[in-house]
Amino acid sequence: MAFFLASILLGSGLVLQVAGTPLTNSLKCCSLLDAEFRGEQKVVYPQALEYGVLNTYYAPSSQQHPSCIFTPVDTADVSRAIKLFTRRSCAFAIRSGGHHYNAGWASINNGILVSLSNLNTVTYNSNSGSVYIGAGNRWRKVYDTVEPHNVTVVGAQNSDVGVGGFLINGGISYISDEYGWAVDNVQDFEIVVADGSVLHANSRQNKDLFRALKGGSSNFGIVTGFTLKTVKINAITNIVSWFPESSHDSMINAAYHYCTNGIDEDPSSQILFVSFMHVKNGTVSIQKGAAMTYADYMDLSNPPKVLAPFLDGTVPTSGIQTGVQNGTLGSLGHFLAAFQGPGGRTTRQTISIIPDLVLLKKLLGVFTKMTEPYRQSEGFEAEVIFQPIGRKWIEAGNARGGNSMGLKEPVIIMWVQPHWSSSKDDKKMGEFVSKTMAVFEKMAREAGKLAGFEYLNYAGTRQELIAGYGSESVQRLQCVKRKYDPRNVFGTLLPGGPKVPGF
Ligand SMILES: Cc1cc2nc3c(=O)[nH]c(=O)nc-3n(C[C@H](O)[C@H](O)[C@H](O)COP(=O)(O)OP(=O)(O)OC[C@H]3O[C@@H](n4cnc5c(N)ncnc54)[C@H](O)[C@@H]3O)c2cc1C
Ligand SMILES: *[C@@H]1O[C@H](CO)[C@@H](O)[C@H](O)[C@H]1NC(C)=O
Ligand SMILES: *[C@@H]1O[C@H](CO)[C@@H](O)[C@H](O)[C@H]1NC(C)=O
Ligand SMILES: *[C@@H]1O[C@H](CO)[C@@H](O)[C@H](O)[C@H]1NC(C)=O
Repeated sequence: MAFFLASILLGSGLVLQVAGTPLTNSLKCCSLLDAEFRGEQKVVYPQALEYGVLNTYYAPSSQQHPSCIFTPVDTADVSRAIKLFTRRSCAFAIRSGGHHYNAGWASINNGILVSLSNLNTVTYNSNSGSVYIGAGNRWRKVYDTVEPHNVTVVGAQNSDVGVGGFLINGGISYISDEYGWAVDNVQDFEIVVADGSVLHANSRQNKDLFRALKGGSSNFGIVTGFTLKTVKINAITNIVSWFPESSHDSMINAAYHYCTNGIDEDPSSQILFVSFMHVKNGTVSIQKGAAMTYADYMDLSNPPKVLAPFLDGTVPTSGIQTGVQNGTLGSLGHFLAAFQGPGGRTTRQTISIIPDLVLLKKLLGVFTKMTEPYRQSEGFEAEVIFQPIGRKWIEAGNARGGNSMGLKEPVIIMWVQPHWSSSKDDKKMGEFVSKTMAVFEKMAREAGKLAGFEYLNYAGTRQELIAGYGSESVQRLQCVKRKYDPRNVFGTLLPGGPKVPGF
């Protein structure tokens, strides 16, 4: 630990901070940008109709108010803009799909919002079996482009989600148990770094940056395009089993067994475990469920062994919902997008734990209690979700050159997510999540089962998220940071997002 801290401090000492330079007024920055791109209609001001469209987020609570929005159409535009931001000390934010829940990550008050939505090329190359994806795309277009060729990609579960943020922060796909994080399957990143240079990072060029970008978030530059390897799966099916209260204990036992055995025994499977609380007409109901997918042909009446306990009555169910059967990853993604619909008010925080049966039971018990003071809030619902990460998932990442996430042993990612109706409850709901997570964290730490890892795409805005990747990974990221962003442009001019410790 002491060594870890020392290296973090050392990291900060070696950087030539841009921090000494005062930021230029954001309106002035917008007019400089407007002059740079005169006549190209790429700088959008609040009074324009388009501003409202570009500034809409999945979760309304993550919206802020930029002084202007910059809409590049290619990598060269991004490069010219970054040169200007660096030269003139202009604050900015980067947005791809705008799905992250955290206000201030892909959004900014004052400052310039760089919206990548026009970087929307998707090109499949049947010779290499890879697909080039502009960072501003949604997964829908990617699935729709590659699946007619009978291949798919390790992409988001819900096909409405943006590509850029999802990938640079890791990316959990329905087929991650076998193929690893979505970003493990990137073969090449196209990125604009702080001095405006356009670089490619892959297994031959800028190898250190290549690895750093797999989970290193927005610390190194603006990624404008990803080349992703495609994969072939036969089919995919999803099913959700719900369990009555009388089954809760046996359900948790079976869930624990899946997290520690089934997941690696059959990596075509994936299960998310959920405890869902809602209030209807004054009555509180707590449901537990197992959301299962299977990435091959599947006969529901004869389920694969590792899913069977949740379907064949071993753990008695109160209901089974089937979604897509023997479909494609894209068809399931579209199904989920329609099912989940457009966003409402929501937020999330996450920790991860080392699988432990006693701890799981304790956490689920305390969750129900933590919701009590908030049940009067309009439209309040809350869930805690458990996503196991197995050994094969981690090994898949290592086999593809390693990533920044630093996981060495299986963990269960868990997150708490409330939903509510009114902006007047935004603060209260933030407090509910923080309090609940603090209790979970304390319980896990006391049990000796707290893992440091916090998945960035599900994380809240607390500091030092990347420190959870562990000292080895943090030191590697600090080296890469010194090399590619020596003046810490992406630490000082980009206020939002998780930062490499010491920068
Ligand atoms: C309905 C829904 C379903 C989801 N399903 C999944 C799922 O199946 N699996 C999963 O893992 N996650 C899922 N998520 C979470 C999702 O991965 C994150 O919200 C992710 O960040 C979204 O990507 P985006 O492009 O929309 O990010 P944005 O909100 O645009 O950005 C997120 C962060 O990444 C940075 N960033 C974005 N693009 C770039 C870039 N090109 N270069 C540098 N930095 C960049 C931003 O500055 C910001 O900090 C889901 C979210 C929602 C709302
Ligand atoms: C994809 O698979 C289907 C069904 O097997 C087949 O008819 C079709 O020709 C294949 N398409 C391509 C592009 O290979
Ligand atoms: C709501 O609860 C009240 C009082 O318990 C009951 O009379 C009413 O029928 C319930 N309404 C619905 C829609 O369940
Ligand atoms: C899915 O495929 C399996 C194996 O071919 C088959 O047994 C099952 O009936 C199919 N299910 C549906 C709904 O088509």
